[in-house]
Amino acid sequence: MCYAIPGRVVSIKGQIAVVDYFGEQRTVLNDNDDIQPGDYVYAQGGILINKIAEKDAREILGFWKEKFFELKKIDAQYSKLHTSGEGELLRILQRVNVKQKLNNEEFIYLLNLQTKEEQSLLFETANVVRQKEHDNACCVHGIIEFSNYCRCDCFYCGLRKSTSQKRYRMTPEEIISAATYAVNELGFKALVLQSGEDEWYDEEKLVTLVKEIRKLNVLIFLSIGERSKALYKKLYETGARAVLLRFETSNKEIFQNLRPGTNLEQRLDLIRYAKELGYIVATGFLIGLPGETEEDILNNIMLTKSLGADMYSFGPLIPAAGTPLEKEPLGEKSAVLKTIAVTRLLDRKAKILVTTALETLGDNAKKEGLLAGANSLMINVTPPTYRDLYIIYPKHGKEVKKAIQETIDLLYSLGRAPTDLGL
Ligand code: 5AD
Ligand code: SF4
Repeated sequence: MCYAIPGRVVSIKGQIAVVDYFGEQRTVLNDNDDIQPGDYVYAQGGILINKIAEKDAREILGFWKEKFFELKKIDAQYSKLHTSGEGELLRILQRVNVKQKLNNEEFIYLLNLQTKEEQSLLFETANVVRQKEHDNACCVHGIIEFSNYCRCDCFYCGLRKSTSQKRYRMTPEEIISAATYAVNELGFKALVLQSGEDEWYDEEKLVTLVKEIRKLNVLIFLSIGERSKALYKKLYETGARAVLLRFETSNKEIFQNLRPGTNLEQRLDLIRYAKELGYIVATGFLIGLPGETEEDILNNIMLTKSLGADMYSFGPLIPAAGTPLEKEPLGEKSAVLKTIAVTRLLDRKAKILVTTALETLGDNAKKEGLLAGANSLMINVTPPTYRDLYIIYPKHGKEVKKAIQETIDLLYSLGRAPTDLGL
């Protein structure tokens, strides 16, 4: 199985390499010394991961050649407007079509759309923009949830320290072995290592993890919460290249109420620092927190953009048992889809993730997210012994090979191909 297509390096200037995929070119960051134009490489998340032998690359590309152009045709069919509109909505979306910048009032208007037809037209328009900017590329990352211990007490989260759920920690050996399986057996080229904020994993353990997993030629995403700047720096130097850290909400008051003992500015400062260090940064927010308005959602999108996010990660609040928010209403799928679409219009080149939380809102949610402007996915590759214990919110876990097959079938049915999205 394969979640990345190899490309051929066409040029290198300093740290920037241009990689060609069947005539489509993407810019990526390269910090490997031994790469030359003409080499075949894998890239993920805009980062050149490793070189592969020409013979192996040609074999894989032989399989992809026909498939790639076939997929592009399918994607082109989906990337058209099928719904008609009128009035203010049509006026706004016509402005999008000629690449005019919308103002806040117009974005709020879109986030407030109520009827199915109006929302469909918004999603279709966003999908057209996605196709224009990124073609049919879609990245698929694996995620290993390695510990559900957390020192924080966020009001929305099932892992908060006050809940009584059963806790686990995977040993570094177990994590490395799960990563090896995900890369060598399942074919992932990017892995998210996620946990609660768990200081049991000190610098020494995390450095070992990054060092060993980096040897597998995979993009390492850290999702370990608010740890020290020194630790993030050390892990960058060791070979981690991406960080997933949401700011959760741009509304200071809501942040303060729901995340006792922490503060928004400090969190933003850490996200900015990760970006400065050179990490690929995925960040974002929750949708549907109590007291939140459409203005907050728009501010969240704009804050994500202003942080220079390389990837947007946001999803609905799913009330979790045993938390202060357990009686809150379940996040609305349409609100998430509208947020995906508006993000696509506001930041045309964005990489937007369909999150697992959105997937829990219905069998079709993943597909709907991809058709509303999203272009990245994650698949849970946590070993079966632990996966049911990582309960940030209630979710139905699927056996990994089944999940992978379903995802691939979905991507192919929509005409999406696993080329890198570039920088
Ligand atoms: N529903 C949806 N997402 C949640 N998260 C935490 N609790 C919930 C919930 N109840 C998200 C937070 C966090 C990420 C790891 O999980 O945004 O950053
Ligand atoms: Fe811990 Fe993150 Fe959950 Fe907060 S959201 S309790 S930091 S795992």
